[in-house]
Amino acid sequence: ATVRDLAGLEVVVSAGGTREPLDPVRFLGNRSSGKQGVALARAAADRGAHVTLVAAHLEVETEGLTVVRVETASELALAVESAAEVADVVVMAAAVADYRPATVSEAKIKKDDNGDALTLHLVKNPDILQGLAALGREGLTVVGFAAETAPSRDELLELGRRKARRKGADLLVVNSVGWAAGFGTDDNAVILLDSSGTIVGEAEGSKRQVADVVLDHVIALRS
Ligand code: C5P
Repeated sequence: ATVRDLAGLEVVVSAGGTREPLDPVRFLGNRSSGKQGVALARAAADRGAHVTLVAAHLEVETEGLTVVRVETASELALAVESAAEVADVVVMAAAVADYRPATVSEAKIKKDDNGDALTLHLVKNPDILQGLAALGREGLTVVGFAAETAPSRDELLELGRRKARRKGADLLVVNSVGWAAGFGTDDNAVILLDSSGTIVGEAEGSKRQVADVVLDHVIALRS
């Protein structure tokens, strides 16, 4: 039987890819399937936590989980920040759009109005993870992800280290993504960094196995 070592903890997990509307029928999105985030939510629930899954676009089932559905980065921010107020652990596994269209057209954008090239004006979305970490709330453990396209492990680690220091999350889960790896796959391989960028662990296997190792580290950090 699974050890209920997260019993009594309030855990918030964000998962999936946000979609930023351009007009009523189009959006800017990403290839996140939500598999790693949903695996984390399931693992935490199996280990006794009370779990809220804040779900952007997913390609996996969420049966049995408590889910708050969102579409955009702004909606995800609102849902995560409100759930985080009473949380012990927040895991930001969602692939949040870094930019959103500056304006959303009320009518469908027409090629007749735009000639051979169309320029989209994008504005930066606030960084939810960085904001949560900056709160420095006593008792709140903040976990982030860094999906990077890096040609080697050393370069992946360097990108991860910089991100760990910039974001300030208690734990940063670094994984390599590309056309063939990461998003949408059933397996994952990750390096875990603390807020100073020091390697504290590694995990490889199914997304569920990786989820359990991440949660082991969350418990270690809190004790
Ligand atoms: O900077 P980057 O997008 O690679 O960082 C990834 C981490 O930051 C993930 O944990 C993601 O959920 C989070 N993030 C966020 N808000 C954003 C962009 C990313 O919380 N606007």
